Amino acid sequence: MKSGLKVFAPATVANVGVGYDILGFAIDKPGDEIIVRQGKKKGLVITKITGCKKKLPLEVEKNTAGYGAQKLLEHLGLEDEPIEMEIHKKMPFGSGLGSSAASAAGGVYAINEYLRRPLFSKELARFAVLGESVADGAIHGDNVIPSLLGGIVLIRDNDTFDFIKIPVPPGLHAFVIYPHVEIMTRDARAVLADQVELKKHIRQNGNLGALISGFYTSNLELIQRSLQDHIIEPQRAKLVPHFYELQNIALTNGAMNYTISGAGPSMFGFCLNSLIGENILEKLKSHLADKGIESDFYISTINTTGTYKY
Ligand code: HSE
Repeated sequence: MKSGLKVFAPATVANVGVGYDILGFAIDKPGDEIIVRQGKKKGLVITKITGCKKKLPLEVEKNTAGYGAQKLLEHLGLEDEPIEMEIHKKMPFGSGLGSSAASAAGGVYAINEYLRRPLFSKELARFAVLGESVADGAIHGDNVIPSLLGGIVLIRDNDTFDFIKIPVPPGLHAFVIYPHVEIMTRDARAVLADQVELKKHIRQNGNLGALISGFYTSNLELIQRSLQDHIIEPQRAKLVPHFYELQNIALTNGAMNYTISGAGPSMFGFCLNSLIGENILEKLKSHLADKGIESDFYISTINTTGTYKY
């Protein structure tokens, strides 16, 4: 297998407004590409990383794709298997689109495929989550599990990797804008207070429960009503340039909601069709350009495939 086995792992939107660290969904693109092939020496070796300005470590133990893959190999008792891995970053780092999570998902998926699928995709989740923890030092599967499995994922308990795939309402589109400013997840986590006022906790719980119910019943009106984040957005908005102006543009042009994607600076909203989404995205992009900030945007239905081999 000279050319290697290639997988694509998609970007994700974590938190989905009201589910900090416990809710996320996958979008179609961007995403990362991981290639694995038979190696020349004992063990897993990362031979190449392309597509990122920031230098990512080639050391397996320090790399999100490498570490998760290594943990999987150890679990299978195959850590001496000679395997080479290449990582091709096709999405921005520190963007709020789950860049390190996509690499972690791609790494474990590629190894499992290479070994002719000793584990089910669902069983790979814990190794992918461990891989991503190398990036921000925290264990949370809200990017990595939807990138691996696709769809909308609710994590009941991050410590025990207990998660549930939530039904995807047909027709729901997500639009995402990525302003070219970098926010590191570690920093965006550090701004959050570790205490939550009881009143806010109650409102947020009501919204989260109702949002999940809206997903199960495809009740778009309930989904829209529930997407009001009382805890995280107010604390992180200051990190994202012109956040409230952009939110106002999106909401007055047909978005169902508009908030920060993961740790930011990307932002996302749901809308009823791609025409509404494209119109909003053009307006957001033009507003950011007026402020001297370049941006990229993406629109997709919720990606139910997750990571795949091609
Ligand atoms: N739930 C995480 C956060 C996602 O918002 O910090 C980013 O990794």
